[in-house]
Amino acid sequence: MGTPALDAQTLGKILNALNDGVVVMDRRRTITYLNPAAERMTGWQLGEPVPYCRFCQEREVAEGEERCFLAAQQAIDELESEMPTRWGTMVPVTMTRSFLVDVEPKAGHMVITIRDATVRRQAEALRRRAELHRRTLEVLEAERRRLSLEIHDGVLQLLYGVRLGLDDLAYEVQGVPEKEQKVRHLIGLLEEGVGELRALSQALYPPALDDLGLTSALRQLAAQWTGRTVEIEVVGAFPPTVEAALQGRQATHVYRIVQEAIHNAVFHGRARTVLVRVGCGTCTCRVLIVDDGRGFDVRRAAEASGLGLRSMAERAASMGGRLWIKSRPGRCTRLWFCFPRPEPPEAADRCDRLCPPKASWSEAAWASRARGDAKGGRR
Ligand SMILES: Nc1ncnc2c1ncn2[C@@H]1O[C@H](COP(=O)(O)OP(=O)(O)OP(=O)(O)O)[C@@H](O)[C@H]1O
Ligand SMILES: [Mg+2]
Repeated sequence: MGTPALDAQTLGKILNALNDGVVVMDRRRTITYLNPAAERMTGWQLGEPVPYCRFCQEREVAEGEERCFLAAQQAIDELESEMPTRWGTMVPVTMTRSFLVDVEPKAGHMVITIRDATVRRQAEALRRRAELHRRTLEVLEAERRRLSLEIHDGVLQLLYGVRLGLDDLAYEVQGVPEKEQKVRHLIGLLEEGVGELRALSQALYPPALDDLGLTSALRQLAAQWTGRTVEIEVVGAFPPTVEAALQGRQATHVYRIVQEAIHNAVFHGRARTVLVRVGCGTCTCRVLIVDDGRGFDVRRAAEASGLGLRSMAERAASMGGRLWIKSRPGRCTRLWFCFPRPEPPEAADRCDRLCPPKASWSEAAWASRARGDAKGGRR
C-alpha cells in the first residue's frame, strides 16, 4: 500500500505544528521555505541565505569544493553541529538533509531539518559529569583504602616494633629514675602518635565495613564522635541479606554519606545531637539523618563551592538512589537518602519507585527527639 497523498492544507498544518525546523533552500542557499519551528530556533527569514554551520565554517575545503558538508556529501545526510542565529548566538542542532529531486530539479532544492539539541547536549554533559564523578569517587576510595592499609601494615607495624624495644629499655633502666622517666615519656609520645595514625588509617577506610558490615561500621563511626560535644545515635539496621548484597563500593557510599552528614552537622550546624536511622522497606533501603544544629539555607548552600552536599547526591545517584535535604536557618536539618534494595532480582523486581521524603518515616518524631524541645516535630 502506498503512502496516502496529503492535500496542501493538511501538509501546511503538519509543517506548522512540527517541533523540528524544516528549511528549503535553493542552489544559492537562499531560503525558499521555512516552517515556524525553524524560524523560532534560528530567526532566519524567507529570501535570506542560510548561514554555514560551525562545522562547515571551520572545515578545510579544497578550491572550488562545496563548503556545505551536507550538500557536498551524497552518502552522509545527518550532521551534529551548531547553527548561527539571527541574534548572533549559536544553537546546537542535529540536522538532516534531503534533496527535492522531483520538484524543479534544476533549482537543486535542498531540504534540511534542524532539531534543537540544547537540552540533549546539556543532559549528555550532565551524564558525562556524573560518570566522571563516579569514577573519581571510585579511584578516591581505592586510593584511600590503599593508604589506609599502607599505614596499618607499614608504618604502624614499625612503630609497634619500636614500642616493644622501648618496653625492653624501660625494663633495663628500672631503678634509674631519670632514665626511666625519659623512656616513659617516649612511650607516651609514641602511643599518642600510634593512636593518631590508627585513627587516620580507620578514617581513610573503616575496617569495620569489611569485617563487621555496614550497620556496625556506622555504629562505630557514631561511637568515635560520641562523648565529645555531640551525641550520635544510630538506630535500626540493614537486614543481613542487604548487608550481604551491598557490594563494597555501595556500602562505602552509604558510609561516606552518613560520615559527611555527621561532619556537616557537627562543624557547620554545631549540633548537639545527631540521629541516624537506617532500615529497609520492601523496595528501598533508607537512611535518615536528623541533627539539632542551627540549620542552613539549602538552596544557597547548593550553589556554594563545598563538595560535601554534591558528593552525597552523586553517591546516592550512583547507587540508583536519591537524597533530599530539608533545613533552614534556625531549624533542625533532615537528610533522607533512599536507594533500591540491592538483593538479587526476585527482590529487586518489587522495587517500583524510591520513597519520597514524606513516605512512611515518622520523621516528625525524629526531628523533635533530635531537637529535644518544642521546635522540632513540624514538617
Ligand atoms: N547539617 C548542617 N547544618 C548546618 N549547615 C550545613 C549543614 N550541612 C551543610 N551545611 C551548610 O552547607 C554548606 C555546604 O556544605 P558542603 O558539605 O557541601 O560543603 P563544606 O562542608 O563547606 O565543604 P566540604 O564538605 O567540601 O569540606 C556548608 O558550608 C554549610 O554552610
Ligand atoms: Mg561538608
